[in-house]
Amino acid sequence: MSKPRSSPTSGISGFSDEIEKAHEPVLVAEALAQLGVHDGGRYLDGTVGGGGHAAAILDASAPGGRLLGLDRDPAALAIAARELERFGDRAVLTRGNFAALDDLAGEHGFAPVDGIILDLGLSSIQLADEERGFSFRSRGPLDMRADPDLRETAADVVNSWAEKDLRAVFAEYGEEPEAARVAGAIVRRRVKTPFEAADELGRFVAGVKTRRPRGIDPATRVFQALRIAVNDELANLEQALAGAMRVLRPGGRIVVISFHSLGDRIVKQFFARESRDCICPPHLPTCVCGHRAGLRVVTRRPLRAASAEVDRNPRARSAALRAAERLP
Ligand SMILES: C[S@@+](CC[C@H](N)C(=O)[O-])C[C@H]1O[C@@H](n2cnc3c(N)ncnc32)[C@H](O)[C@@H]1O
Repeated sequence: MSKPRSSPTSGISGFSDEIEKAHEPVLVAEALAQLGVHDGGRYLDGTVGGGGHAAAILDASAPGGRLLGLDRDPAALAIAARELERFGDRAVLTRGNFAALDDLAGEHGFAPVDGIILDLGLSSIQLADEERGFSFRSRGPLDMRADPDLRETAADVVNSWAEKDLRAVFAEYGEEPEAARVAGAIVRRRVKTPFEAADELGRFVAGVKTRRPRGIDPATRVFQALRIAVNDELANLEQALAGAMRVLRPGGRIVVISFHSLGDRIVKQFFARESRDCICPPHLPTCVCGHRAGLRVVTRRPLRAASAEVDRNPRARSAALRAAERLP
């Protein structure tokens, strides 16, 4: 069988086999059911990562189904290429940001698609890679770029952004209750010693905070906020959802799996707005917007992992899956 076509364009960091095996996809059966995967369908995986969801979609759509897999991380794409090799030409992989998923689907001859899946955030493989600096336990550089071609690292952010901007990022993207205290302390400390390693910032934040959140490391929210800021995650998601409206065929489905409330809220609000015929402000007596529903929400409430899956894969605990269907 021929290899899936792949176009990663820059360096691939070396993951050990042990780490590579560590990403277990979440809510796979639920995602397949919501996508309505069928033989001959054309699917787009905007976050192909370790290739787990993609392989399940290709298995379920055999023999004629095809899948375009995107990832902005060339290292993730290299792993997906290996995982999906057995599907030959049925899998096409390309490096890219899902913010442009409609353009990328068009360029690769996949438009319109029958289904889109976005499994947001990071894979366990990326989190475990010390050199990427995503984890507050990582001894590697404070980097956090999902795409190594991005200009600004997390170290650039903490060492150069104004205090008020750091505070806003920690409050908005991390929902960190002590955002002001942490931002102030970072700015005072960096004058003498700029932050370099991820675990150094993790310990510093833990030392500055006065309250211990239950069940999570004290630095969790600050790290989430920095990762969202460095990778512009929320704006990318909004653009991907808008692009999905252009590239899904009528009756096609979109499935989004989020791991934090900010991402889930964006998906929920987008689905709610796009499933309404009128989006005028409520005080207007008659409709002036002319908006027509383009989606039917399939999951009124997000689907969650069953306890057996959470026991097997603790990452599934915070996963929330929403699905919608494109209307004609
Ligand atoms: C949770 S993992 C996906 C795992 C995958 N579903 C699997 O089964 O192995 C998320 C992946 O999305 C990628 N990613 C995050 N934001 C992206 C974006 N804006 N465009 C493309 N890929 C993105 C990350 O690099 C990561 O590999």
